[in-house]
Amino acid sequence: MRKYTVLALLAGVLAIAPMSRADDALYKSLGGKKAIVAVVDDFVGRCAMDPKISSFFADDVKDPKRLAKFKTNLVNQICQAAGGPCKYTGKDMKTAHAGMGITSADFTALVGDLVASLDKFKVKEADKNALLGVLGPMKSDIVTK
Ligand code: HEM
Repeated sequence: MRKYTVLALLAGVLAIAPMSRADDALYKSLGGKKAIVAVVDDFVGRCAMDPKISSFFADDVKDPKRLAKFKTNLVNQICQAAGGPCKYTGKDMKTAHAGMGITSADFTALVGDLVASLDKFKVKEADKNALLGVLGPMKSDIVTK
């Protein structure tokens, strides 16, 4: 009986080990935290300059502390979503964007800016799609108009 318990435990460990390796595959492939910080810096800069959506980010542009907090939240959110060792402590997406009146076109514009940043840093097509696949489903909580 004990022998089977040990075998069962061993089988469990062997089954979980490759899974946990795969869990942070996207984080690693993106290049880790440093690369995510670089992408988010570029991405937020693009959003703030994008005439389609820049008005949403006017308060951030005016307030460096607010901008820094926003970027930190975004970095942690993307890092955690990619399986990295970060913890997102910001608001949930519905609360964070409540009352902003974000449209589907605004959402598309923001995703376009993100893709431009990912392309600038030569993020692989598969990683880009994987990341967009994680963020895409958040649309229904963000678009309210
Ligand atoms: C998948 C798409 C999106 C993601 C992952 C995302 C993520 C975030 C996160 C993590 C925050 C910070 C929440 C907090 O402070 O606790 C935030 C805030 C915000 N988001 Fe989004 N967002 C998305 C789409 C959009 C869109 C489409 C717009 C407008 C065009 C937008 C405008 C803003 C603004 C203005 C803030 C407040 C920034 C501040 O605190 O100063 N977001 N978003």
